[in-house]
Amino acid sequence: STYVIIMAGGIGTRFWPFSRVSNPKQFHDVLGVGESMLQTTVKRFEEICPPENIFIVTNADYRGLVKQQISFLRDDQILCEPIGRNTAPAIAYATYKIKQLNYKANIVVAPADHVILNQVAFVNTIKYALDEAAKSDILITLGITPSRPDTNYGYIQYLEDGNELKKVKTFTEKPNLEIAKVFLESGDFVWNAGIFIWNVQSIMRAFHEFLPEITEIFDEGIPVFNTPEENAFINRAYSHCRNISIDYGIMEKASNVYMLPSNFGWSDLGTWNSLYAIGDKDSQGNVIDGEVMLYDTTNCIVKTPQERLVVVDGLHDFIIAEYDNVLMICPKKDEQRVKDFLADAKNKK
Ligand code: GDD
Ligand code: MG
Repeated sequence: STYVIIMAGGIGTRFWPFSRVSNPKQFHDVLGVGESMLQTTVKRFEEICPPENIFIVTNADYRGLVKQQISFLRDDQILCEPIGRNTAPAIAYATYKIKQLNYKANIVVAPADHVILNQVAFVNTIKYALDEAAKSDILITLGITPSRPDTNYGYIQYLEDGNELKKVKTFTEKPNLEIAKVFLESGDFVWNAGIFIWNVQSIMRAFHEFLPEITEIFDEGIPVFNTPEENAFINRAYSHCRNISIDYGIMEKASNVYMLPSNFGWSDLGTWNSLYAIGDKDSQGNVIDGEVMLYDTTNCIVKTPQERLVVVDGLHDFIIAEYDNVLMICPKKDEQRVKDFLADAKNKK
């Protein structure tokens, strides 16, 4: 049967100041749709598997937020990490949990912060991938037709052999801009959507082969849920794990990776420019969420609290974002620096 792992432990640094360590973006209603990104993500999987098969991996600090937002979850469906070690350890932890329940499980791994506009197409794609993953020892990832040389994504080059599932030739996580441009222009590449489908045995094999320092400890077996032994075990396991994403740790290295081309209105709301890209624009190309008066201002994204009247004159291609006690004004082209701003702001306090 099918299980879903939702990765919800990132802190969304590229989306600061809206995303905060104390309350990262996946717990916010980023799009103004009346629910958080995590809530939307969980709903998206209602047609894929029973609710009791959904596991959320997050930082221990966010257990309360997850529980509050997704009230049907049993406590043991929220897997808490003592420290953030990126997605490979998070996926390993959840996979070992699921394997204890069902050694024949088929698993979908999904981020908590994506926009997917076409739910029907999404469900069809996932179901097709699940059928294929159940049959063979392969790691499936979903591929998206790229539209810009974005360096925040993984790039996949694949073999065009007429099959629905394409064998992956190369997987390059987050190339630099120069290389991303070459990939885009070649027309041979798709973006990695960051949504993975495999059976529990296949991903276990890959972890053993490529990240043995993780499996070495988890192979001892996770102790019974909610016991002091479990806590100690997870703390120990995480203190031994490298900080590494599944993309660098496994997807770039494995030779049994397949890509399923996907078209369901996908975007990763990872950065200010990605939010700008999908936002509704006014006649001057501005994306506005807030109480705002604009003069001679074009192609900006403004996201400010409703209670603040914001007046802008003469800005072009800027991000203007205020949340809680931080206001950031930054050229859109400099969004990569947002991480540095956050680091410097931490030092200020
Ligand atoms: N539990 C847990 N622990 N979750 C985490 C952690 C962690 O330490 N770090 C990140 N996550 C969660 C994030 O909250 C997000 O939902 C998901 O894992 C993906 O992490 P990101 O940090 O957003 O990854 P990315 O966007 O840089 O890159 C990935 O996604 C791209 C597409 O959106 C890669 O898979 C790329 O190859 C891909 O193109
Ligand atoms: Mg992301």
